[in-house]
Amino acid sequence: MLKFSRYSLLSKLNLFKLTTREYCGSDDCEKSAFENIKTLTPQGISRLTNLFQEDKNENKVNLGIGVYRTEENKPYILPVVKKCALELVQDPNLNFEYLPVFGNPEFTKAASELILGKDCKAIEENRIVGVQTISGSGALRLAVEFISQHLKKRTCYMSDPTWKNHSLILKHAGIKTLKGYPYWNDAKRNIDISNLLAALNEATEGDVILLQPSAHNPTGMDPTKRQWKQIAQVIKERNLFPFFDVAYQGFASGDPDRDTWAVRYFVKKGMETLIAQSFSKNMGLYNERVGNLIFVLKDANHIEAVASQISILIRTNYSNPPAFCSRVVAKLLTDENKKKEWLKTILEMVDRIKKMRKALTNKLKELETPGTWDHIEKQRGMFSFLGLPPNQCYKLLKEKHIYLLNCGRINVCGLNLNNIDYVAKSIDEVVRQAVSLR
Ligand code: LMR
Repeated sequence: MLKFSRYSLLSKLNLFKLTTREYCGSDDCEKSAFENIKTLTPQGISRLTNLFQEDKNENKVNLGIGVYRTEENKPYILPVVKKCALELVQDPNLNFEYLPVFGNPEFTKAASELILGKDCKAIEENRIVGVQTISGSGALRLAVEFISQHLKKRTCYMSDPTWKNHSLILKHAGIKTLKGYPYWNDAKRNIDISNLLAALNEATEGDVILLQPSAHNPTGMDPTKRQWKQIAQVIKERNLFPFFDVAYQGFASGDPDRDTWAVRYFVKKGMETLIAQSFSKNMGLYNERVGNLIFVLKDANHIEAVASQISILIRTNYSNPPAFCSRVVAKLLTDENKKKEWLKTILEMVDRIKKMRKALTNKLKELETPGTWDHIEKQRGMFSFLGLPPNQCYKLLKEKHIYLLNCGRINVCGLNLNNIDYVAKSIDEVVRQAVSLR
């Protein structure tokens, strides 16, 4: 009926050749609300993943997105994670009721203790809040919304370089000014500590300093304990606000406790901080989006007000988080034997990464590839910052079908005994070509 009447109206309009402008008084009724939306070119890691999937070349190697792969180049389900999931599915009391706004309390407690340590004074004194989030990205987003709305902070410093999504999240969640602190010294293939400290010394009181405590993305290079102490001292003296992103706990040293040494040091020094935590990598729960955001405050009296404001941010966004894998993580972390098994698996994963680092370094040295390559072995975590300029990375992608970020970052987990010779020879070729053109 409705269709018919619309149709007859249209045919009448045609009949009398009435234009929209004449009929409506403007062209507006023909306009779509979406017509001025600009198409963004897909960028960064997701674009690289799409290109890799479309590539039909049989030698193609994906060293782009940061995911763990086995020696057989397969995704990895940690055996103890699978065990916990199966136990939960078989639990006759399992249900899918809503979680509280702050998530699964068993999970947030265990996850927060994993970062801060069970003996943390701030936990004992009830000066922390743990909030279950949509993985590490969700924790960052929630943290930055809180920081910009309630702490009224407008400037944030990030390492230069950093994970590409950091600047996008910060910008979209209300930070007006983004600044970089120097991090990587390309000539020395190491941390640029003097310029890093100099930049922090220039920051204005209250500025937010985003830090990665271990397995830095993209460089794979972490400050030493001595350097962390220097960084903490400047942040404390200048009353800056430290904000940690912990996405790879365990992947740097193989020991989750050691990997959060820096966070614990800042907290012991009495500093307030926010900590974004992800279980995507260290439990292989990438698509389950399990994360935690920890607020560490100086005064337990402020917890109630802070928590009430966080709950509004969550309620007006995703209401409450998904439950299943928060239960998996809680089960794993609160059972001695399961936790031991997890720690052992992390060591095995880290061991494989270290072997691949060593193998790539050795092969480039054997090939006498121009340049120095020891840094690949020194770096930690999933990523290695090769030190190749964007045009050489592009050649690797276009001519050799090796997918890496244009900043020269590779995911070392994408290497295995089947592809490492090909990757090393391709790097060698591209670097030699560049040298011969100089
Ligand atoms: C990466 O840097 O590759 C990972 O953190 C995955 C992502 O979402 O960017």
